[in-house]
Amino acid sequence: MKDEITITVKDQDGNIHELICPLEMGLSLKDLCKAYELPMEAMCGGMAMCATCHCYILNETSMLPEKGDIEEALLSELFTTLPSSRLACQIQLTAAMDGLFIEIAHN
Ligand code: FES
Repeated sequence: MKDEITITVKDQDGNIHELICPLEMGLSLKDLCKAYELPMEAMCGGMAMCATCHCYILNETSMLPEKGDIEEALLSELFTTLPSSRLACQIQLTAAMDGLFIEIAHN
């Protein structure tokens, strides 16, 4: 079993960042982006209240857990939501997500 995974993140300016995520810390995708100081606001701190951790999944959405009702509801209120939209704070990173590629949304 791997103990770390790599996630690729495109920021709002189109810059690509490769993030290494140690799995034993139980980080969310939002936590990881914050740890690397990427431009993701995440104002509510991961409480599924602000939607400023909005991102688009650019590959392999099938390895992610289904959206929860709260996540679905928050995303439905944004003008920038696409079928690939997720809230990064609602995604707990696991070994299955190695190689995930996301883009931080403009909110
Ligand atoms: S950090 Fe606020 S909804 Fe994700």
